[in-house]
Amino acid sequence: MNTRVEIALNDQVEKESFSSQFYLAMASWAENNGLNGTAQFMYKHSDEERFHMLKLMKFINERGGKAVVPAVSQPPMEFNTILNVFEQLLHHELMVTDSINNLVDICLQEKDYTTHNFVQWYVSEQLEEEALARTLLDKLKLIGGDAGGIYIFDRDLEKFVTTTNKDTQETA
Ligand code: FEO
Repeated sequence: MNTRVEIALNDQVEKESFSSQFYLAMASWAENNGLNGTAQFMYKHSDEERFHMLKLMKFINERGGKAVVPAVSQPPMEFNTILNVFEQLLHHELMVTDSINNLVDICLQEKDYTTHNFVQWYVSEQLEEEALARTLLDKLKLIGGDAGGIYIFDRDLEKFVTTTNKDTQETA
């Protein structure tokens, strides 16, 4: 496997791993602040990031490279408000999108079209994740600090997680 591509893929492994830790911290904060729906959403999101990491690691190894298991770094644990949680979620996803785009660039520069094809799955995934993060953040901005609004937002998020879990089980 092309060394530059392998390094970039392992760098992405590290980012997906950190994303998983970061959303786990958000889930734990939400759980400790009575936001059960948000906690479930973030626990699920954390699992998805771990899946993104594993998918990359398997690809690197299958293509003759060596996947590196990254060190676990501690994410921020305090978020102050639910609005702040979702602001940080969107901000983080934008950073991940930049990193994926950089990976696409490297694949093209190195003429590694197989990895380029593989990375397209992440390009689509980032589109979806950014759109969802923006939608949720827009809703929270509308709600402002209204406790009743936040209660309904959190309850709706719990329903959303239950529905998407059911869909995943049915298509599995
Ligand atoms: Fe794997 Fe949310 O990016």
